[in-house]
Amino acid sequence: MITKEQVLEALRDVHDPEINRSLVELNMIRNIKIEGNRVRLDVILTIVGCPLKAKIEEDVINAIKALGAEDVEIRFGSMTDEERAALSAQLRSGHAPNQPPGQAQPLNAILAEASKTTFIAVTSGKGGVGKSTVTVNLAVALARMGKKVGIIDADIYGFSVPDMMNIVQRPTVIGELILPVEKFGVKVMSMGFFVEDNSPIIWRGPMLGKMLRNFFSEVHWGELDYLILDLPPGTGDMALDVHTMIPQSKEIVVTTPHATAAFVAARAGAMAIRTNHEILGVVENMAWYEAKDGTKEYLFGRGGGAKLAEQLACELLAQIPLGQPENHPAEPEYSPSVYKADSSIGKLYTELAQRVVEKTGVNAS
Ligand SMILES: Nc1ncnc2c1ncn2[C@@H]1O[C@H](COP(=O)(O)OP(=O)(O)O)[C@@H](O)[C@H]1O
Ligand SMILES: [Mg+2]
Repeated sequence: MITKEQVLEALRDVHDPEINRSLVELNMIRNIKIEGNRVRLDVILTIVGCPLKAKIEEDVINAIKALGAEDVEIRFGSMTDEERAALSAQLRSGHAPNQPPGQAQPLNAILAEASKTTFIAVTSGKGGVGKSTVTVNLAVALARMGKKVGIIDADIYGFSVPDMMNIVQRPTVIGELILPVEKFGVKVMSMGFFVEDNSPIIWRGPMLGKMLRNFFSEVHWGELDYLILDLPPGTGDMALDVHTMIPQSKEIVVTTPHATAAFVAARAGAMAIRTNHEILGVVENMAWYEAKDGTKEYLFGRGGGAKLAEQLACELLAQIPLGQPENHPAEPEYSPSVYKADSSIGKLYTELAQRVVEKTGVNAS
């Protein structure tokens, strides 16, 4: 006969997909009742209508059936405000309710000097060159390699990452803690999650820095190998905030192949050099268009990426041609801007990710 202890032990391996801690550790499993091969229990979710309820249900049922149970009956409940507040406080301090202190990473630890996370800011001189596209596809490519990756969409006026990845879900908020939304294996945080109906945002200078700070202090990132920041174009306040808040950040500068674009991008690069941010290299986007017969047409000029890399004394990491992701809104994993792994541009992003891993020396996890 199955025992309560066995059930608890089995559920220790079932994690809340958002918080990434065991359901048992989070005190979400209650009232286990066993009659023969029949197991009944309560699963207390963090919020009512938790978007990942179905996944949790499936994982719990599978774990208990693996013990030999024939029938598993779950009753779902949700935490009280007090329980949520306690959980949020405990996650902030770094340990979950049923876990001894000192094992987990406290919130904000991601910014600490000893943090294992590599920060990469994606910058450009001007908008429309493909910064967000590069951010999203580099992040997804790193995640496909098994890395733990997050994106901060720091372009808070012009946020676009949620749409580009086709994220419709909103972040779960537990007390004062925000859980990033995961898509294609990447944890995403964007101002876009908090704006209704795509209405314009009017921020004043100081609020920008506060926003970025909140994206670190209020967001439960867990452990990450890479946190990629999609910066607004140019060398404005946000770029400065990143420099001061994350002095260890590395940078990738995106440009089109046109000589004037490279000239403008050089300013963003020069700022990185002045602030001692290591420039990992240049990505030349929209490098050419490949016609059906295989000939390349250099619609936006040629040589800008190489020239910029030379000016910044860094490497030309990748040249990405023009092309749209070949997927259809009817597909379950549809997204407007994520290239599939086996597509020609998808492969270029895999190579870019490999190069980034080599240059940053993050071991496979
Ligand atoms: N290699 C590419 N081929 C075709 N379209 C692209 C490519 N890179 C970016 N785009 C498109 O160009 C536009 C601008 O790209 P985006 O990534 O939003 O630039 P930024 O973030 O620098 O403003 C978007 O509509 C995007 O889908
Ligand atoms: Mg953008």
